[in-house]
Amino acid sequence: MDEIVARLFAWYDGHCRDLPWRSTRDPYYIWISEIILQQTRVAQGYDYFVRFIERFPTVKSLADAPEDDVMRMWQGLGYYSRARNLHHAAKQIVAMGGFPDTYDAIRSLKGVGDYTAAAIASFAFDIPKAAVDGNVCRVWSRVFGISEPIDSARGKQMIIEIAQTLLPSAHAAKYNQAVMEFGALQCVPRNPDCPSCPFAHKCVAFAGGRVGELPAKSHKTKVESRYLTYLYIHTHEALLLHKRTAGDIWQNLYELPLIERSAALSPEALFATPEFAEWHALLPRYIYKGGIEGVKHVLSHRVLHASFYEFEVQGALPCPEGFVVVPYNELGRYALPRLIERYMQAKIP
Ligand code: ADE
Repeated sequence: MDEIVARLFAWYDGHCRDLPWRSTRDPYYIWISEIILQQTRVAQGYDYFVRFIERFPTVKSLADAPEDDVMRMWQGLGYYSRARNLHHAAKQIVAMGGFPDTYDAIRSLKGVGDYTAAAIASFAFDIPKAAVDGNVCRVWSRVFGISEPIDSARGKQMIIEIAQTLLPSAHAAKYNQAVMEFGALQCVPRNPDCPSCPFAHKCVAFAGGRVGELPAKSHKTKVESRYLTYLYIHTHEALLLHKRTAGDIWQNLYELPLIERSAALSPEALFATPEFAEWHALLPRYIYKGGIEGVKHVLSHRVLHASFYEFEVQGALPCPEGFVVVPYNELGRYALPRLIERYMQAKIP
């Protein structure tokens, strides 16, 4: 075994966290954990994982569940296409007659890319395929001093080749877990504790004072601003929600009635919109209860600037097409984006 891997394993034996998906070989649990952990930290993903497999203990139970239930379990995790793909893939697995046990068949599942397929294949079936995620790119780009951007095809390929060459085929699962854990705990993005690192003596980035520069990235993600004006229209018993459908943020999640513009709307500007005029015509008597402006919510590629204006309706709520009237005691059944959930929690603690 390569000296680097021997050192890595010694480090892992002393530092690995006891995580529920590490004590199982069941590909279903491993798959769920890997999808949750894409774009999500272990600390946040842990509880979601436990609740998810409690609610959907088998791939069949997930495949048979209504989509709204799956989205509800995902509420607050973000990147909701993961949940939709998971649901779709559960049906694929059931149609295949069981969880696939080759790399290519696992890779063919919806929402499963190279990294996730390698992780599942190695953790569940000991298939000797290197799993390369952001953690792994960071570790090997620093140790070997790879300056090629990791978001370029060439840079990514260089890391994959290094990771695959180092992989000891008899210990694929441990190796993949160990590099990832090393990236998550020791070789962290900012201010890693290099003097305590088992690779300090041979890390090219450390020797050259380039730890802060690696891994290199070619382009920074562009961030788009969106301006969302929400109407909290309610009675004492119920409120209006709307299900998002278009191929946009939060597909299939529920939100308050929305008016979107290229800039924030003051109350006066809101009252002058045609959308508001339609609500005004539709609602029975109502009282404007004021608003909250300038709520900022950051997503990976977008910054949302939200305002919320509240209208208390006297009488029955109308229910235009595309909306649902939701009694407060049933609100828990609807998957809400974090931004909306926070507002609702402030309103109905
Ligand atoms: N991040 C992605 N996959 C992981 C895993 N299996 N363990 C810990 N962190 C991870």
